[in-house]
Order: sequence, then structure tokens, then C-alpha cells
Amino acid sequence: MNMTATIQLKGKDFLTLADYSKEEIEYLLHLALELKEKQQNGERYTPLSGKTLAMIFEKPSTRTRVSFEVGMVQLGGHALHLSSRDLQIGRGETIADTARVLSEYVDGIMIRTFEHEKVEELAQYAKIPVINGLTDDDHPCQALADLLTIYEVKGKLQGLKLAYIGDGNNMAHALMLAAAKVGMDCAIASPKGYEPKETIVKKAKHIAGENGATIVVTNDPYEAIANADVVYTDVWASMGQEAEANERIHIFAPFQVNEALVQQAKQDFMFLHCLPAHRGEEVTEDVIDGKQSYIFQQAGNRLHAQKALLVSLL
Ligand code: CP
Ligand code: NVA
Repeated sequence: MNMTATIQLKGKDFLTLADYSKEEIEYLLHLALELKEKQQNGERYTPLSGKTLAMIFEKPSTRTRVSFEVGMVQLGGHALHLSSRDLQIGRGETIADTARVLSEYVDGIMIRTFEHEKVEELAQYAKIPVINGLTDDDHPCQALADLLTIYEVKGKLQGLKLAYIGDGNNMAHALMLAAAKVGMDCAIASPKGYEPKETIVKKAKHIAGENGATIVVTNDPYEAIANADVVYTDVWASMGQEAEANERIHIFAPFQVNEALVQQAKQDFMFLHCLPAHRGEEVTEDVIDGKQSYIFQQAGNRLHAQKALLVSLL
């Protein structure tokens, strides 16, 4: 990976990987590896001493909440968990006012919410960096950690092929953009009517073209997984879609990542899942708990990737 000394990300928002250059992403990955090593060596590193991150959650979370909070503590700072139920946002205070008020107190805001536009509005009015902790359209923190995990396991990113099998959701979008940025081929297989958003596919294809990679969207999981180095899936019903869960189980059944399907990937494929997972639905136990699964290293890397973000942005 190329490490350029001139990368400067202070004050920048992190709403989608589409807004970051290939060099900036590589810089963050490199920094994440450095911070991970420091952590594993028991080295104290507290550049965010005295700084506070506000974390707004309008949806539940295990990994995002814990990894951001622990990350801030390890870097010498502090994190505030703010559920929308407890904030005045829940009673109608505007996003714009919330952004301006929080800017008076804290050094950065992480938000997990529904509409992507809400995060954009928060960023527009906040004087401090805003980090997207998942929207209906994107999950860039997860995709950054995923790139880190793939790099650790495969030793490179460019030239690999990632196959995402399942719902054309926030993860599909984030992974397409991440792959496109680093020059990784990406194939998405979703049922008809559940493909990723056309606007995001178009954007990813454009970025991929600049980096010598391809983005393919198909309704055939076998086509997508052929020769894949990385096999990825996610839940069939995302947060906010719980009412559709039963209907989706039938529609998505042919897209289950199971032994028969992964046979078509490269022999040394690695399996990833952002978690939480539903074993027996989007993935079988033998695959997700098998030797080629890296899901816990992947979950762990949320901490290191996000620490790199926090150090760089705040
Ligand atoms: N992958 C992920 O974002 O997990 P949480 O929903 O637990 O934060
Ligand atoms: N697509 C899932 C990802 C969870 C991390 C959701 O939005 O619920």
C-alpha cells in the first residue's frame, strides 16, 4: 500500500467512501494497521485526549456502538451514547439545530439512522466532522473494516474479486463503492426487485472504471460467485424491514450462501459477513463457522479502522 505523507483529513466528514480518494482510503488502512499493532503491543497512544465523540443511534447496534466507544477511550477521548429516544430529535427538534448545538460541545458526531439524507443534512450544519455509522443506503465504516480484513488475509486488494450475494442494501452499496475505489472487481447477485440502487451502481461503475475494476449486478448467484476471492453476504431483512422478513425468506432462498454455492468461488476464498447473522437463512452454519470464515477478525477490525478515522478526522 502507498503511504503518502500529504494526506490531510482533519475536519472532513465520512459519509460514504465515494467521497474519499483511493489514496485517502489506503492511508486510512495503513494507519489502521499501525494502530492495531500499537494496541496489540500494549502501547498507549492517546492523541484524542480531551476530545469527545457524540454517537447518535436511531437503530440498534452492537459492533458500531462498542467499537466507537472503546476506540475513543483507547485514544484518550470520550464517547457519548445518545439514543434518539432520549434526544430532543425524537420530539421534533430539527437535524440542523441538533448539528449546530452539538458542534458547541463535542469534536465529532457519529450517527446511525434511516434516510441517508439525514446524515448529509447533519454534516451540512455541523461545524465538526460527521461519521456515517450506517444509513439505509450505506455503511462505510463497515466497508473500511472489510477492506482492512481482506488486505490482512489476502495481502492485497487490487485485482481481487468480491462477490456479494443477497439483498441490494446498504452493505451492497458500501462494498461496491469500496471495491471500486481500490480496484477490486465486485459482483452483486440479488433477487429481481432487490438489486442495489441504480444511482449507486452507476457511481460505483464510474469509479471502478477509473481504477481498472468492474462492477457486475446480476440475478444469478452462481454467476456472481464464480472465481471470487471474497464471498460476502448480509441479512435478508435489514433494520427497519422487519415486517417483510417472512416474505423475504422465500424470495431470497436461492441466494443462500451454502456449500454448493461456495464450491464455485476460488478454492482459497474467504467468507465475510458484517453481522449480525442469521444462520440457516442468508448463510449456512458450515460456511459462516467454517475454516474460511473471518467474521470475528472482521468485526474486530471495526475498532482499528474506526480508530484510524477518528485520529484522522477529529
Ligand atoms: N456490522 C454492524 O454494523 O453491526 P452493529 O449493527 O452491531 O453495529
Ligand atoms: N443491512 C444490515 C446491516 C447491519 C449492520 C442492516 O441495515 O440492518
